Amino acid sequence: MDRDRLLRELGEFLRIPSVSTLPAHDNDCRAAAEWVAAELRRLGCSDVQFLASEKHPVVWGVGPHVPGAPTLLLYGHYDVQPPDPLAEWTTPPFEPAVRDGKLYARGAADDKGQVFCLLKAIEAGGPPAVNFRFLIEGEEEFGSKVLFDLLKREPQRTKVDVALVADMSYVAPGWPAVYSTLRGLCYAEITVRTAKSDLHSGEYGGAAPNAHEELARLLGRLKGEDGRVNVPGFYGPVKPPSKAELAAWKKLPFKEKDFLVKRVQAKGLTGIKKYSVLERLWALPTFEIHGILGGFTGQGAKTVIPAEATAKVSLRLVPNQTLKKVQQQVAAAVKKFAPKHVTATVKFLHGADPAQIKLDHPSFKLLDQAFREVTGRGTVPARAGGSIPVVPALGATGAPVILTGIGLPDDRLHAPDEKLDLKQLWDGIEVFKRFYRLLGAS
Ligand code: BES
Ligand code: MN
Ligand code: MN
Repeated sequence: MDRDRLLRELGEFLRIPSVSTLPAHDNDCRAAAEWVAAELRRLGCSDVQFLASEKHPVVWGVGPHVPGAPTLLLYGHYDVQPPDPLAEWTTPPFEPAVRDGKLYARGAADDKGQVFCLLKAIEAGGPPAVNFRFLIEGEEEFGSKVLFDLLKREPQRTKVDVALVADMSYVAPGWPAVYSTLRGLCYAEITVRTAKSDLHSGEYGGAAPNAHEELARLLGRLKGEDGRVNVPGFYGPVKPPSKAELAAWKKLPFKEKDFLVKRVQAKGLTGIKKYSVLERLWALPTFEIHGILGGFTGQGAKTVIPAEATAKVSLRLVPNQTLKKVQQQVAAAVKKFAPKHVTATVKFLHGADPAQIKLDHPSFKLLDQAFREVTGRGTVPARAGGSIPVVPALGATGAPVILTGIGLPDDRLHAPDEKLDLKQLWDGIEVFKRFYRLLGAS
């Protein structure tokens, strides 16, 4: 295939700032959906539709009928995360640029570049070998609630032989992966109110409650310095990985020291020390504070006691935990840990159940073979720290959900200078082309 043309086409897709969480970009999300729909039509899809959703359409498509061949559902998302902080991008996030064999843009790896890869692999393979179904959505980055509910109502859309999700990465350069778990997510805003309004910190300081101080203490109670989440009942359903799985992780090209120095680039790692870093990232739940709002943050100094403070937080969940239960546990913990003189409320914004996938379906062998033929190495089983809310629904009718991807661990998803290595894209097109053909012949 003509790589210059492919780069031009992917560039067009990446140039659309389809940030699903910012209402100012609603039209851009629409444009990205149109871009996907046009590609599906070009691939000969008969039934390209925009399915209803909260804000941004799900692009649905049915590929040309291939009698007797298995049905393969391709899932991906055209929405991206906000690009800020803008000043930290070497080149602007929505002006794709190639440097040193890497394509820099918001969405390059998560997930437009990978959606592009799945689609161009069809084009590269000539007449399709399988019956394709497409679900390319635009609300993944804010929880996919509507698509999740839609698939519950219309399970026939996921009545397929195999579902393929390419929204993750190799475990290391040269090491393609398939994932057996995804973490779930419980996203919440915790608000502490201490008084009717802000107060002069001289007149009232020393006797009046301070919302930021109360919130800080509350957050400190929810997660200890040792990294443990102190939400009662939280760890109850958490199962440790098997001995075999832990042994397999030891053989992966993952060095805790490199992870600290090259990827995290901090002075030290945190978390529950008795667990390895991979266990902390893949097999344990978490609690993170994303931001704290309220009080005085303007220029200069203002002496005030804030009456309200809000923290945006999220918890990552692991298999056997459920979003519903964790929401109850968090609400109860906030109530328990907040002192009587404050009003603490929790608002849940979105979330996802964790996913667990058995890697024993024959199609996993075919993907392994395709990667092996192209990259020289088959897929290693791994777990993922991130979340894809719709995955449990994709597998609800019993189809195996193959979680894989062409990214690399240093792609900086959701961060400045997100990138996709072009070699990963060219290899990926070849891998998926072969996978489709192998599946068609199976
Ligand atoms: N592609 C990621 C999920 C991912 C990242 C899986 C890294 C495996 C490794 C996805 O686009 C994502 O960012 N999901 C959000 C979901 C949330 C907003 C509901 C996430 O994990 O934060
Ligand atoms: Mn993604
Ligand atoms: Mn993402």
